[in-house]
Amino acid sequence: MEIFKTSSEMRAWSDAMHRSGETISFVPTMGYLHEGHLSLMEKGRSICSSLVVSIFVNPTQFGENEDLAAYPKSIDRDLQLIESKGGKAVFLPDREEIYPENYQTYVTLESLPNHLCGISRPVHFRGVATIVTKLFNIVRPDVAIFGTKDFQQLQVIRQLNHDLNFGIEIIGAPIIRESDGLAMSSRNKYLKPEQRPSALSLSQACLKVRQMVEAGERDASGLKFKIKNFIDSFPETRVDYISICNPNTLDEVTEIDGEVLFALAVEVGRARLIDNILVGSS
Ligand code: PAJ
Repeated sequence: MEIFKTSSEMRAWSDAMHRSGETISFVPTMGYLHEGHLSLMEKGRSICSSLVVSIFVNPTQFGENEDLAAYPKSIDRDLQLIESKGGKAVFLPDREEIYPENYQTYVTLESLPNHLCGISRPVHFRGVATIVTKLFNIVRPDVAIFGTKDFQQLQVIRQLNHDLNFGIEIIGAPIIRESDGLAMSSRNKYLKPEQRPSALSLSQACLKVRQMVEAGERDASGLKFKIKNFIDSFPETRVDYISICNPNTLDEVTEIDGEVLFALAVEVGRARLIDNILVGSS
């Protein structure tokens, strides 16, 4: 497995691969890999002849009071895991390589970031759109795989891929969960054992919403109210948002008519957790 630290080496390798007829699938990550990340790699490996993974904790997608400095790392273990999943190359740049002195260019979207996580994390999607644009230009994949756990991120990337004519096939992969239902996340490391029941309230809320919609509930505000009370009943929880929205535009809906996204973000102690589920498909 090749490990590249510079954009020029990474790009030269990808260009050579393409010239020899290989197809490239790409999984961008911030490292501290778990089964969720590995499932994306398996998907990528099954679609293209060469899998590339990037590991870069992207500073521009963290707000000032967020966990950039504390973000967990396990590079040696990550590299072993990528190799075990058949990764052909890893792009592992440092901060200076991606954002050298006098860096000036950012990618912003008009509408999608003004919803869900973008409201309490105002610089987040600008950072994500910028790094993913740069990574797409450096790695030049045919296919890129992202988790639906970060549903809004996936929609932002689909939009930028379309708007900026990358022509990359973007694939959304299902949420991988712990056996008790908690969506896997590098940030679960911040949870104390006694906070586990509170953390599980998110996946339980998703299941509750599915049941209520299947039972005929159509009123979005009534549902959100019930779920807010449910989450608030757990200690150390602070609801950031509870949303029922159109999965494409992320605009809130008042009535559940056809497929909608139920999504929520909750702080449990110092961990900010998110989860979501698509419900109401006819
Ligand atoms: P990171 O949080 O490391 O996630 C990398 C990829 O793994 C994302 O596509 C994310 O949606 C996916 N993922 C995380 N947890 C998952 C789970 N439980 N099941 C399935 N997929 C899961 O997302 C980022 O990094 C960054 O924002 C990045 C796109 C790399 C840009 O910096």
